[in-house]
Amino acid sequence: MYTLRVRIAVGADHAGYRLKELLASHLRELGHEIEDCGTDSEESVDYPVYGKAVGEKVASKDVDLGLCVCGTGIGISIAANKVIGVRAAAVHDVTSARLAREHNNANVICFGSRIIGPEVAKDALDRFLASAFAGGRHERRIDEIAEMEINR
Ligand code: RB5
Repeated sequence: MYTLRVRIAVGADHAGYRLKELLASHLRELGHEIEDCGTDSEESVDYPVYGKAVGEKVASKDVDLGLCVCGTGIGISIAANKVIGVRAAAVHDVTSARLAREHNNANVICFGSRIIGPEVAKDALDRFLASAFAGGRHERRIDEIAEMEINR
């Protein structure tokens, strides 16, 4: 559970830029420390660049968690998940945000600005931060994913 001050890397493409800015402000207001990996405008860019940048910050433990936004949350999560040690989850609501932490121990949360409204995204992000990995049978499954990375 992340109720204290957390370091969070944020990144988005042009489609996710506005929602990324809004969520970063929300996180700052809550007292969290933000590492902004860009982008900085609505000018068209490629989402893999930003998914990779956020993923690398998380994997190197420069930050505790990552937040990514693109149009759907899908492309940028696929990119972030290519970084070893990253478990990025494309989340659509409070329930998927909670389960991403409890079952998947997700360390990067991804939103689609064309899919989710800003208030739902804020609530989902808050729930993600307030939830903890449940362990138990889920630990084994996370380990199986880590094994795939070792054997790559
Ligand atoms: C950009 O138009 C869009 O393709 C991108 O933001 C994202 O939705 C990809 O998955």
